[in-house]
Amino acid sequence: MNALLSGALMAFLAATSMASPLATTSTTSVKPTLTAAAGAPTFTPLTPAEIKNLQTELILAASYKDKEQVLFPPNNGGSANNVSFQFVNSPGTPPQDGSVIVGSVDSIPGLIGTHVAAAIGFIGPCGLNVPHLHPRGNEFLTVVSGTLIGAFLLEEDGQFAGDVPQVAMTLTNFTGMLFPQGHIHWQFNPTCEQAVFAAAFDSNDEGRFQVAQTFFSSMPDNVLTSSLGNPTFLGPAQLDQLRGIIPDAFVVLVDSCAQTCGIKTA
Ligand SMILES: *[C@@H]1O[C@H](CO)[C@@H](O)[C@H](O)[C@H]1NC(C)=O
Ligand SMILES: *[C@@H]1O[C@H](CO)[C@@H](O)[C@H](O)[C@H]1NC(C)=O
Repeated sequence: MNALLSGALMAFLAATSMASPLATTSTTSVKPTLTAAAGAPTFTPLTPAEIKNLQTELILAASYKDKEQVLFPPNNGGSANNVSFQFVNSPGTPPQDGSVIVGSVDSIPGLIGTHVAAAIGFIGPCGLNVPHLHPRGNEFLTVVSGTLIGAFLLEEDGQFAGDVPQVAMTLTNFTGMLFPQGHIHWQFNPTCEQAVFAAAFDSNDEGRFQVAQTFFSSMPDNVLTSSLGNPTFLGPAQLDQLRGIIPDAFVVLVDSCAQTCGIKTA
């Protein structure tokens, strides 16, 4: 019995190990049939009510089998619509500078029960994706068009004096980089051309925390100035002024670069 089984296993292994080099090198290998794919439906966006309903049903589904019944009911014609998402619906005319489209549990309820989210971002010439962090997810960001400089600050190591070290990389030609969970990071487009990125997260609800906006927002003045070492130049008037000008945008223009590219900043 054992000999029979191991004999069959050996024969199977021999067959597959012979088959794989053939499959990868042969130019006449049989192509998979595309009949099913050709007839597959295209994506239809879910309405806010459908998103809410799907979220509720998925959270109530205890097992993966139950989730599958919710996502792909028997009468749905074999559609993957509940686990698909269209980031941008304007072929040929991508969104203008400074937009990021996030596909997370908020927009793709089908991600409930997974550890995945994704984003597509458009950063115009001299645009800066302002310093931020994702409290619940690591990010791997790949530049698919143009150039971005990606940077993050290393974890503060209990050394309270001196600058926290930064690591950075110029990302171009489909180069990607990790931005670890919870680390302050930013991306800057140093060129006069638009840049486009695709990012993946290992959380379906990665979140976003704008560092400067949050820090200077509603913290009491005395708490804020104490945590900055009580600088003499930062009184309530200066703080209010600062709060008024810190941009809340996903992307702001970097003036020095804008001058080089001839972009009007005012
Ligand atoms: C998506 O899920 C909802 C809720 O179960 C279901 O009613 C709908 O038919 C599904 N849509 C598709 C295309 O499977
Ligand atoms: C990116 O690709 C272009 C076109 O092949 C090439 O000229 C350029 O040197 C590449 N840049 C980098 C940083 O690899």
